[in-house]
Amino acid sequence: MATVLITGGAGFIGSHTCLVLIGAGHRVVVVDNLQNSSVEALHRVAELCNLSPGQASGHQVWTSATGESQLIFINGDIRSSEDLDQAFRCGGPGESSEVTAVLHFAGLKAVGDSIHQPLSYWHVNVEGTRCLLEAMRRHACRTIVFSSTAALYGFPKALPIPESSCIQPANPYGQTKAAVEQLLADVAQSEPRWRIARLRYFNPVGAHPSGCIGEDPNGVPSNLFPLITQVAMGIRPHVQIFGSDWPTPDGTGIRDFIHVMDLAEGHRQALDVLLASDEQILTLNLGSGHGHSVLEMIQAFERINGCPVAYEFAPRRPGDVAESVADSSAAKQLLGWSTRRSLEDICRDGWAWRQRNRNGYRNRR
Ligand code: NAD
Ligand code: WQD
Repeated sequence: MATVLITGGAGFIGSHTCLVLIGAGHRVVVVDNLQNSSVEALHRVAELCNLSPGQASGHQVWTSATGESQLIFINGDIRSSEDLDQAFRCGGPGESSEVTAVLHFAGLKAVGDSIHQPLSYWHVNVEGTRCLLEAMRRHACRTIVFSSTAALYGFPKALPIPESSCIQPANPYGQTKAAVEQLLADVAQSEPRWRIARLRYFNPVGAHPSGCIGEDPNGVPSNLFPLITQVAMGIRPHVQIFGSDWPTPDGTGIRDFIHVMDLAEGHRQALDVLLASDEQILTLNLGSGHGHSVLEMIQAFERINGCPVAYEFAPRRPGDVAESVADSSAAKQLLGWSTRRSLEDICRDGWAWRQRNRNGYRNRR
């Protein structure tokens, strides 16, 4: 059993990954400032793992039947060395930290907002990661898995997109992720003990099949999948499909949608490989390798869940690409990882989450 620090662990991908790591027997310390999430997500993770709530040193903890604290929550900011030191100290009672590795999800992720608030995006995503790496050095922890993104590739020249494709982000969000990837490469170069995975996700969607945890965006979602579930639920009138004139078979954009549980399992496998191998830096796409159009996604959702999703066509969204599909062969070769869940699983599980949680995590506990 390892103790793993998960930044942003209350968020969409982080909460699903907490569940997978606890299920694999690890102890998890979450640091999250809840700016885009709710502690309710961690209560749900604990319930799914049969852990009981308690308090220790002012923190929320959840313990196993044998009384071991298995999930710990620090309400803190990755830009604060005090908050990070506190989180690393939860790793163990000794002077030096027993946190074995960090999974780093915390960050700001809305492409549109990043254009209007670049300073916030650079501060949280880049300066936040620099603070985290400093804290890791202070606490002698040198293994990190970083949430990177397909947004790095901007307008790709070839499909499916290999990791060797040009890094040319088309927006400030992608620029901050590219900067962190470079920072991590420099850190790896500086000292051979670092073990780093840079995981470039494509389009994470869906939810845990229990419907207990899922994606809960603030305000009007900018991403397609949460919009579809909200329209199906009657919360919004229709989905606007951005563009019917893309050079694709049905004229709508094509994306590589990946079930969030497949993504969470990819993190566990990347961590296992980093902890066991001499590989210093892994840079991997995580996608299914299959593209589905926006229209196909809407029609699949209607067919699988038996509910209509109203839509209307609208002009193309600035900055969008026609098609984005991962070449994930490196992840298969190096991690033994590939997606196991289908578009049907994505639609069914995402709908179960929305039906059970019309307003997401709000108004709970
Ligand atoms: P999310 O917003 O649900 O989760 C991010 C979490 O980080 C939230 O819980 C938020 O409260 C927390 N956070 C933000 N700023 C913080 C700070 N300064 N200190 C501590 N916590 C902070 O997003 P997600 O979809 O789970 O994404 C997780 C990571 O994956 C992000 O880094 C994102 O850029 C990256 N990513 C996401 C997608 C996607 O489509 N969801 C795709 C590629 C990459
Ligand atoms: C998917 C498709 C839209 C909304 C973004 C980020 C990327 C990554 C994942 C973080 C596109 C179409 C969407 C709508 C629509 N996030 N669409 N109507 O843009 O592929 O990727 O999220 O790293 O960096 O850029 O995802 O879900 O916004 O769009 O027609 O209301 O759905 O045009 O073709 P995207 P998305």
